[in-house]
Amino acid sequence: MKATAIAPANIAFIKYWGKADDALRLPLNSSISMNLSECTTTTTVEFSDSYKEDAVEFLDQEALTILSRPLQDCQSESLRVCKHLDNMRARAGNTWRARVVTKNSFPKSAGIASSASGFAALTVAAAEALDLALSEKELTMLARLGSGSACRSIPDGFVEWLKGKNSQTSYAYSLYPEDHWDVRDIVVVVQTSQKKTGSTEGMDGVRTSPFWNKRLRDMPDTIKKIKIALVKKDFRLLGETIESECVNMHAVMMTQKPPIYYWNGTTMDIIRSVCDWRKQGIPVYFTIDAGPNVHLICEAKDEQIISKKAREIAGIEKIIVNKPARGARIVSEHLF
Ligand code: PMV
Repeated sequence: MKATAIAPANIAFIKYWGKADDALRLPLNSSISMNLSECTTTTTVEFSDSYKEDAVEFLDQEALTILSRPLQDCQSESLRVCKHLDNMRARAGNTWRARVVTKNSFPKSAGIASSASGFAALTVAAAEALDLALSEKELTMLARLGSGSACRSIPDGFVEWLKGKNSQTSYAYSLYPEDHWDVRDIVVVVQTSQKKTGSTEGMDGVRTSPFWNKRLRDMPDTIKKIKIALVKKDFRLLGETIESECVNMHAVMMTQKPPIYYWNGTTMDIIRSVCDWRKQGIPVYFTIDAGPNVHLICEAKDEQIISKKAREIAGIEKIIVNKPARGARIVSEHLF
């Protein structure tokens, strides 16, 4: 009753911001993303009748120390993991407690969707350990209950999460495998510390923005554009659409009550640099999730020049160059 899974984070080209149903985590709109090759979470789950309670350990990537957070500490992060395990145990008709050990290859909770890779890896590992024999579609529906964007980290490559009308129709599937288009996501990390407002809490306020309805009305057209860009490999259409979609989501965030400002000064410097680089003829576009870090989207041929320029910006911590990647999968090496 032990299994380990690895799952990639994903960058949303079309963002998920707002729920139609809180308990089921049904989103207000469908979203589209790309899995990231160098931003992964590996998670080992073991169920045993000898465990008295669930225990969740986060292996800190830099220090490799064990931050042990047993359930009685009521850390919200661990509680979410335990609630998710409850969901999965209920499906399996099993009551055994679990030990979960998890490790990220990138800074946690800094806007690089650690909840996506985290809940995708947890779902796939726990389903295997519990012998649930679920299809990919069923795994995405389960992962969605842990964290919405996690469902997009299970299928391969470029992925759409359908908003659906109920739990059975809100799932993710692969639009194209990872080798469909050799684009890059250069993550420019400007801050690795924990963000103040998590996405679950932040998006609860979406309806207080005067712009959220307009965003939803335009969404079918935005999704159509991204799909045309992907099928035709039209990089300019892809870039222009993801950039305006990102700014659109942040406009909603900044006009919520209370407002959420995820960007910092360095974020703004990078945005301005991207606009300058484009004027110089370099095809590069930005997108930003719920944090200050900036994702630079470009084609493989331009990766080196853009990475070099990004490294020269004052205030950045590091860059992570990602290719499109496979989705979540079981691996044989356990973390404990
Ligand atoms: O799935 P969550 O709760 O981590 O929310 C993700 C929200 C954004 O990253 C801002 C957008 C997205 O679609 O990934």
